[in-house]
This record gives sequence, structure tokens and C-alpha cells, in this order.
Amino acid sequence: MESAERLCGIEPFYVMELLARAKELEAQGRDIIHMEVGEPDFPTPEPVRRAGAQAILDGRMFYTNALGLPELRQAISDFYRERYRVDVPASRIVVTAGASGALVLALACLANPGSEWLLPDPGYPCNRHFVKSFDAVPVGMPVGSGTGFQPTVDDLARHFNNRTAGVMVASPANPTGTMLSAEAIGSIAAFTRDRGLHLIVDEIYHGLTYDGDAPTALAAGDDIFVVNSFSKYFQMTGWRLGWLVVPDRFVRDIEKLAQNLFIAASTAAQHAALAAFHPETIAILEERRAEMKRRRDFLVPALESVGLKIPVRPSGAFYIYADCSGLTDDSDCFCRKLLEDVGVAVTPGKDFGINQPERHIRLAYANQISRLSEAVDRIRDFVSRQEV
Ligand SMILES: Cc1ncc(COP(=O)(O)O)c(C=O)c1O
Repeated sequence: MESAERLCGIEPFYVMELLARAKELEAQGRDIIHMEVGEPDFPTPEPVRRAGAQAILDGRMFYTNALGLPELRQAISDFYRERYRVDVPASRIVVTAGASGALVLALACLANPGSEWLLPDPGYPCNRHFVKSFDAVPVGMPVGSGTGFQPTVDDLARHFNNRTAGVMVASPANPTGTMLSAEAIGSIAAFTRDRGLHLIVDEIYHGLTYDGDAPTALAAGDDIFVVNSFSKYFQMTGWRLGWLVVPDRFVRDIEKLAQNLFIAASTAAQHAALAAFHPETIAILEERRAEMKRRRDFLVPALESVGLKIPVRPSGAFYIYADCSGLTDDSDCFCRKLLEDVGVAVTPGKDFGINQPERHIRLAYANQISRLSEAVDRIRDFVSRQEV
């Protein structure tokens, strides 16, 4: 008996293998600086933890409605009105098991077998695997520094054909931290609309932006699927909670899928998340956002000083996508040696696609500045000993 054929096209998440090795070295007593992880280092804000704990103590742990707790859907709708000045009725908001659950629901609803989905390369690795899980075909669009590692309408036109069903983008993006302007989102939405394609925009890193807020795709039309999460800005990774904004005519289908695939998102997490929008929580999150900005501002020039090139300054998320071609022609080997020799864990480009992965690495700055500074010293020491 074998796994299904679709498993052949699903690669491991390479960084997890690097992480496993990092943990092994730690168990041997080595001090490892983690710059590979894709999660904030801050604990969930206390008011949110308290709300979750209270709900558990009160025993309110029954299934919720498949689309989510009505109060939470309303709180998210209010958040869009207050923060973005866009009107998104609670009826279009579906609470999910993280952005991952939202992406699964969206593709389960939209992706026919054999249909093609255009995705930027480099991009979030799981997207192409989500697409493949529904027997659809991910089509990577190579994107480079000239367009801020974001796809343009020309890229879409070049990869479009009669099998194309949809486009998936993220802003800010993983691994590059770059954003789409409101105009760029508008032109991508016009392109997809004109050709009857679906558009899924992943806004999971909204809130973690350092040169101004990211515009939401929800302002560009009510026919766009928008993914978001409590994982990053709200720092609730392990609670597994996110949401999907759904065009009206798909809400019923998404509801049917949610009932069948998940029954509902975690009840404890949903009660906790009700406190995520309270002013005292937002004040904590905004302080942490300022700290993330300080880290970015420290790390970008520090990495450049050791010979890494940063073709586009990231304006969001907590990643720096660096060009390491001045130091190595094999980023994967570079990452493995960096970990073994000096105990700094960073992610090789190959996790994010096939567009020049050998010349790129991703460094996450979800770590204190003192540790980032130590990492830079170790990288400097490592590269000074390499024969380039
Ligand atoms: C771009 C992007 N989308 C979605 C996810 C999934 O996040 P979660 O399921 O924790 O909300 C991640 C996680 O790193 C991500 O980087």
C-alpha cells in the first residue's frame, strides 16, 4: 500500500530539517542563534492569555459555529473599519485554524484538478503544496528585485493561459518582506477580474510593517479572498487561529467545507482572540512592532557589512532575503556550514522555490538585538575563514 500519487510532488519543509539539526547541536550543549524560525519571539500578550485561560476555567469549550464565534467575526469586522476604513461585514469573515486553515478552505473551494495557480517565486513554500494537495498545478512566476520581488501584471500575462484558475500573492511577503502598493493590488485585481480568475491575497504579516501600513486588498473589491491570521502581528502562533474573508457568493460553500473539514476552529483560541483587539493588547503589539523595526534597522546594514547583499529593503514581516552570491555559490551548503561551524541557523533559498535559490538565504529577526549582533559577529568570523 502506498501514499497517494500527489505526495510525489510534495517536498519537505527544508528549514524544519535544519531546525532538527540545530536542536541536536543544542542538546550537545552548543549555543545556537535561531534566525530560521518564522514566528515572533514574543509570548502572546497577557490580556489574550488571560481571556483564553478564563474561557477554559469557565468550561466554555463546546464547538462553536463552523464559521466562528459571532462576536469574534464582528470584532474582526470592526477592526477592518477602525484600522483600514473598509467595510467588511461579519457575514463574510470565516474564522479558521490559522492562515493555513484559511488557505486550505479557499483552495478546497476554488481549485479544480488540473487548474493552474500563479504564485510568485520565491514565495511561501506551503502555497504550492496546498495547490498540489487539491490536484491543481502551481505555476511559479520568477520575481526579482526589480519589482520588489512582487509579481506585476506583465508577469501574470506571461504565465496566463486557458487553464489558469487563480493567482495567489502575499503582502508583505515571505521570504522577502516586500509589499504590494494599493495601485499594484488594484491592477492585479483588475487583471484577474477581466479574465474570470480567482485572487487570493495573504495578508498574514499585516501590522508588522515598518515604513507605513500595508494596504488591504479588501479595498480593491469584494470579489477577492483575503487570508489573515492571529499568528504574527497578534503573536498567537500556537493557538492556531486565523481568518478568511470570502466573497459573498462563496460563503455557503466555504461554510459547508469548514463544517466537514474542521467542524470549527479552536474554541479556547477564539475566546482568547476576543481580547486581541482591546486597546491594552494593541498597545503591547504596537510596542513590539517598534522593536521589530529597530531590529530590521540594525540588521540590514550589519548584514551588508559582512558581504551579504540586500537587493530590496524589506518593509514588513520579520525576514531579510539576502543575496549571498558574493560569499558562496551554494546557499544550502553555506547554511549547513554556518550552523555547524558557528551555530547560526538561517534558511536556504531552496525552501522558497526554484528561482535562483542557490544565491539567496532568508534571515529572520525574531530575536533580541544582542543575539542578532552576536549572530552578525559569528557570520563575519565564518566568512573571513571561507575560501570564496
Ligand atoms: C505567508 C504565510 N502564509 C501563511 C502562513 C501560515 O501561518 P498560520 O497558519 O500560523 O497562520 C505563514 C507562516 O509562516 C506564512 O508565512
